[in-house]
Amino acid sequence: MSDALSCPVTGATEPLPEYPLPRAAGCPLAPAPTAQALRAGKPITKVKIWNGSTPWLITRHADQRALLPDSRVSDDDLNPGFPYVNAHRAEIAPVTPRLITNTDAPEHTRLRRTVNGPFVVKRIEKMRAPIQKIVDDLIDEMLAGPNPTDLLKAFALPVPSLVIAELLGVPYDDHDFFQRSSSLVLDGSAAPEDARRASGELVAYLDNLIRQKTATPGKDVLSEMAGRVQAGEMTHAEAVSMGVAMLIAGHETTATMISLGTLALLQHPDQLALLRETDDPKVIANAVDEVLRYLTIVQTGVRRVAKDDIEIGDVVIRKGDGMIFDLHAANWDPEVFPEAERLDLTRPARIHQAFGYGPHQCLGQNLARLELQVVYGTLYRRIPTLRLDAAIEDLEFDHTGTTYGVHGMPVAW
Ligand code: HEM
Repeated sequence: MSDALSCPVTGATEPLPEYPLPRAAGCPLAPAPTAQALRAGKPITKVKIWNGSTPWLITRHADQRALLPDSRVSDDDLNPGFPYVNAHRAEIAPVTPRLITNTDAPEHTRLRRTVNGPFVVKRIEKMRAPIQKIVDDLIDEMLAGPNPTDLLKAFALPVPSLVIAELLGVPYDDHDFFQRSSSLVLDGSAAPEDARRASGELVAYLDNLIRQKTATPGKDVLSEMAGRVQAGEMTHAEAVSMGVAMLIAGHETTATMISLGTLALLQHPDQLALLRETDDPKVIANAVDEVLRYLTIVQTGVRRVAKDDIEIGDVVIRKGDGMIFDLHAANWDPEVFPEAERLDLTRPARIHQAFGYGPHQCLGQNLARLELQVVYGTLYRRIPTLRLDAAIEDLEFDHTGTTYGVHGMPVAW
């Protein structure tokens, strides 16, 4: 495969864009400008990644919706041509247990069925009152503590850590360990041996915890999975790996949506005022979806490989070709979200793809939405004078992790 795009008329070539694409300096919350330009001009085009391979980059909302649920589009990272995020992922793929995150139907359907139950709206909604208490208590503590403070440490990280610990039945006292290990696993710039060690430690930790839950079950998701293992519906290894996946996926993402979401809202005081002045759950729910759309924090692109030839528009994606779905570019697609660059909490936002699309759409989306609804509906009303205590240019953003984020967010009130 050529490393260049060539002009069909003159034959002139230009090198393929390298993915991930950089954001513009001084514009930390917008998608990479190249991704936006490609969406307008070459919405399905080749890019080059870290190992020199050249998967397709798909940037339009409509094309993502057509391809992500297509059964010829595979999430199985053992298929030749899979566009791994980094060398560590490539190295561990052959020894990683088969999970919902790396299987296709019918195996994916079976595995997902074993874990869907606790995450359906009806069951998640029962967590509203406990989450409200967690959020209120943390705000009380923040108000009683130093001013200014780091919103990330004082509030954004503890909220999802406490919630996921309660839901899974993981002792919160271990949060330093599981926060540190999961961020190492997700950090694209971490040394492979560190990421490998962190993921091994998480596996050992969950293995031990699930054995304990088998002996003395509680009313939590890990106990429920231990019960499914005993009933022969899943293996112990599958339960351990699922526990690790939920623990990893369950807190850094939501923490980032709290810190970066607050940053985005502070940059748009008129929108923040709308949120502060309402207690209408529908308005708050839509606001959460709009901030999810606007920020689309999963920044490494959703990765897939073609299991067969796929014709789409004027392109043929060949069997074995890698595919990267840039969710942020799709969520700023003006064909679906007019003036997509405007944060507008009143626009219909729910059809965004910040949680992906198709069979692998985020398992924890109802939980994440609920946590963010409680946070956005409470934090700015309880601390109406909340402000950033630094220049936005001085914040340090995380460009290498699976999720975009900020290393610390000083706030005052
Ligand atoms: C705002 C917070 C969150 C965002 C933006 C987010 C985003 C995503 C995205 C984009 C995917 C799709 C990946 C793909 O198609 O390959 C995904 C999948 C997943 N997410 Fe989330 N997520 C969030 C919160 C959570 C939470 C709280 C959990 C807790 C359980 C979770 C668990 C998962 C799991 C297990 C999958 C894999 C699903 C599958 O492959 O079938 N996520 N998430």
